[in-house]
Amino acid sequence: MKFFLDTANIVEIKEILPVGIVAGVTTNPSLIAKEKQDIKAVIKEIASLTPGPVSAEVISTKFEEMLPEARDLAKLGDNVVIKVPITIDGLKTVSALAAEGIKTNVTLIFSANQALLAARAGAAFVSPFVGRLDDISQDGIGLIKDIADIFAIHGIEAEIIAASIRHPLHVTQAALAGAHIATVPAKVLVSLLNHPLTDAGIERFLADWQKANM
Ligand code: E4P
Repeated sequence: MKFFLDTANIVEIKEILPVGIVAGVTTNPSLIAKEKQDIKAVIKEIASLTPGPVSAEVISTKFEEMLPEARDLAKLGDNVVIKVPITIDGLKTVSALAAEGIKTNVTLIFSANQALLAARAGAAFVSPFVGRLDDISQDGIGLIKDIADIFAIHGIEAEIIAASIRHPLHVTQAALAGAHIATVPAKVLVSLLNHPLTDAGIERFLADWQKANM
């Protein structure tokens, strides 16, 4: 399973990219709004910094507006992937963009059937939201597993992005359930490094080294 960074914050992206663990970035309208900057400027900068795919989401809800908006966003970088919600208009847009060679990430997936439809419309990525399902007492990780099983049975190549990841356990469970990618907020990604025995181990090695070299 690969890691994408779930943020529109340039400082976070610049801090974490050199660690060498991030293969792409996902944004959404809420994350862009937090930055209080023009969406095109933000996406262009993120796309120039990031070696892998960068998801930029459309705001329009009707196919007639969604398609030109998506085409405009796609011009911001060769690695820009258009994030589209799972609606009829969204799928029409996905299908039209696929015919033009523009990659899409179908978002707000909450059922296996939605993921299957998105893949059949030509999505390169599908984004099931784990945390938001858990929030309403439904099984977010179970959904990842169902989608991974269905895609494997039917030889579907769309990549599953486990989204709405809230804590380290979600990451491990998403990897075990067969997600190809987890898109993770910076705080959660960094917290994956933490283990008290690692800290204690470093402390003990340094103390022993200092004792022997006094
Ligand atoms: C990513 O594609 C999603 O937009 C994001 O993971 C949603 O996360 P949230 O449910 O924490 O807002």
